[in-house]
Amino acid sequence: MTFERGLTVSVCGKGGAGKTTLTALLLKALMEKNLGDILVIDADPAMNLGIALGINMEGKTTLGMILDRKKEELDSGTSAYGKLMEAEIWESVVEQNGFDMLVVGYKRGEGCYCDLDSFAAGMIEALTKMYDFILIDFYAGFEHLSRRTSKASDILLIVTEQSKMGLTTTRRIKELADEVNLSFDEIFLFGNRLDATWEQELYQFSRKMGVKYAGIIPYDQNIAEASLMGKPIINIPSSSPASIATRKFLDTMLQEYSL
Ligand SMILES: Nc1ncnc2c1ncn2[C@@H]1O[C@H](COP(=O)(O)OP(=O)(O)OP(=O)(O)O)[C@@H](O)[C@H]1O
Ligand SMILES: [Mg+2]
Repeated sequence: MTFERGLTVSVCGKGGAGKTTLTALLLKALMEKNLGDILVIDADPAMNLGIALGINMEGKTTLGMILDRKKEELDSGTSAYGKLMEAEIWESVVEQNGFDMLVVGYKRGEGCYCDLDSFAAGMIEALTKMYDFILIDFYAGFEHLSRRTSKASDILLIVTEQSKMGLTTTRRIKELADEVNLSFDEIFLFGNRLDATWEQELYQFSRKMGVKYAGIIPYDQNIAEASLMGKPIINIPSSSPASIATRKFLDTMLQEYSL
């Protein structure tokens, strides 16, 4: 690896555009290549990524739970140390066959978590140095950009569906990334559930926006069925159209980084 930390890919986009699906597909494609240790981060408080990856999150510790616990300890005076220990962050890393996952989750407590939040962000950054690849599934919208929670990211991968609103969201994400001066190595735009007639339009749009065109993931019956049955998307066949399209993008991306 030529990176100080693992190659970090943040997946973002409009609600329902396919962020979680794409994160699962990228993970699947990466695992098939067997290139190194992978950490996936579910940064969406809705915590859907586990379902897409076939992980039962029941009883598992999230980062939000750890922050809640720490805050209670600080508020009640049982802990005077306003920081988190590395071991505490590791509690929220779930080991799976072929990858690790960290679920950010949400916080139930009230009041200011500022110090704990920034410490947790620093810890996550430190964690990313221990893996070769980090995939982050963000929540819909782009507040995380203005809060700079994606600062440690090399690649920003914007997913859009076939709609004007998807493109508007894409534009806003790109503008915000420029505005807050986030230095991503690359920003890619991926079209999801798109038919080929939109390919040219998306390509032109990408050029106009100054982002790289990542290609399109077609509507995939296997994804639709898995979603309907509550089955893990990661288990769809590798020969499935969405898997093939994701692999193609991954190959291009890895080639660019000589990985
Ligand atoms: N290429 C595809 N073919 C068929 N169905 C798809 C495809 N991509 C996504 N879907 C379906 O669309 C729905 C939304 O996808 P997904 O959950 O990945 O979006 P999201 O951007 O993560 O949503 P949210 O903003 O709620 O987190 C899911 O039911 C998913 O199974
Ligand atoms: Mg999602």
